[in-house]
Amino acid sequence: MNVRDSILVTGGAGFIGSNFVLGWLENTSSAVLNLDLLTYAGNPANLASLDGNSRYAFQRGDICDAQLVARLLREQRPRAIVHFAAESHVDRSIVAPDAFVRTNVFGTFTLLEQARIYWNMLSGAERDGFRFLHVSTDEVYGTLGPEDPAFHENTPYAPNSPYAASKAGSDHLARAYFHTYGMPVLTTNCSNNYGPFQFPEKLIPLMILNALEGKPLPVYGDGKNVRDWLYVEDHCAAIRTVLEKGRPGETYNIGGNSERANIDVVNTICDLVDEMRPGAGGERRKLITYVQDRPGHDRRYAIDATKIARELGWKPAERFESGLRKTVRWYLEHPEWIENVRTGAYRAWIEQNYAERAEIEPVRQGLK
Ligand code: NAD
Ligand code: DAU
Repeated sequence: MNVRDSILVTGGAGFIGSNFVLGWLENTSSAVLNLDLLTYAGNPANLASLDGNSRYAFQRGDICDAQLVARLLREQRPRAIVHFAAESHVDRSIVAPDAFVRTNVFGTFTLLEQARIYWNMLSGAERDGFRFLHVSTDEVYGTLGPEDPAFHENTPYAPNSPYAASKAGSDHLARAYFHTYGMPVLTTNCSNNYGPFQFPEKLIPLMILNALEGKPLPVYGDGKNVRDWLYVEDHCAAIRTVLEKGRPGETYNIGGNSERANIDVVNTICDLVDEMRPGAGGERRKLITYVQDRPGHDRRYAIDATKIARELGWKPAERFESGLRKTVRWYLEHPEWIENVRTGAYRAWIEQNYAERAEIEPVRQGLK
């Protein structure tokens, strides 16, 4: 790619990364090099619309590969690194945590270290303008009780799953590279995203596809765990804002101000699928099946996003109800994308995760 103004994105073939790359090319005049290993979660089809776009380039590779990262930085001379690449699914981290420590901790360390070497070679405006934006999660803060105030930037870290612990480790490394070396690092901690291109192992796409196909809708525990949902394009806009206006060394919480209990989200999905694809089998809500809970399942997440609103002027544009409607419609209109991601490895994961979860009787437990 021979473009002077460019950024390096890691994990740009995943859910949020691919939405970010598309949004970046649409909203800026600068270019993107996307470094992605294409694990089960990475899907080049998400970016098929960029074929032939001279401002986009793809490099398959591992963020743990220091030599590769060093070469890409030397050759491309990006003005920023936006780091999405990660293992991201909590249930997988419970079954097999190794990959989470490797990619999320060691991979982030490798990127930070190579970025530091690169940044030290820069001078003048190029050096002053360089940014490393580390994309993280609200899960590092742990869990909230029903009346607790939402997570703010000074909430102490208390990660509860191997995924959250590995992201917390990466956040600490990012922080240390600012404090020790003065490298211009920014960290964002965001709540649950939803929207197009989300891999159907996560709650919302899994429920849409199962509802469409008349399969059981596996709700963990009592279904009353709460998540704070944000439409993915709002998250991408927030990241662009932090990159442009954020203060190096700072962290910014990003959230949708849309707390919902899981069972309410699943009921709404059922109603939307009923409306858009009326099924011969009747109401989709009848497919809801309460299954054995996730071990260590965080009860509630909620983000206090006043800092980014006050200091940088970002606010979410999408309401949860309209965003969810758009998302259901997107999945219904993209059967070829769904077919493409449902490989044998996907089917093996679904079999493993749900076959091992005994169904629980919600009525007897007073859950319904
Ligand atoms: P995802 O699992 O959909 O995508 C991850 C991407 O990273 C994939 O394209 C994968 O191929 C790539 N990848 C994995 N290991 C790699 C490696 N070693 N080298 C290079 N590429 C690698 O994840 P997502 O949901 O898009 O999340 C992106 C980032 O945002 C993650 O850091 C995650 O922790 C964070 N985040 C996600 C959410 C959410 O709700 N999904 C919310 C807050 C923060
Ligand atoms: O909060 C941000 C985090 O949100 C991100 O950092 C993670 O990468 C992302 O995966 C997400 O984590 P969650 O664990 O909250 O998302 P998930 O979609 O896996 O689950 C959402 C809620 O739904 C959670 O309370 C568990 C529940 N659930 C999930 C699945 C897959 C079910 O009840 N049934 C299911 O089958």
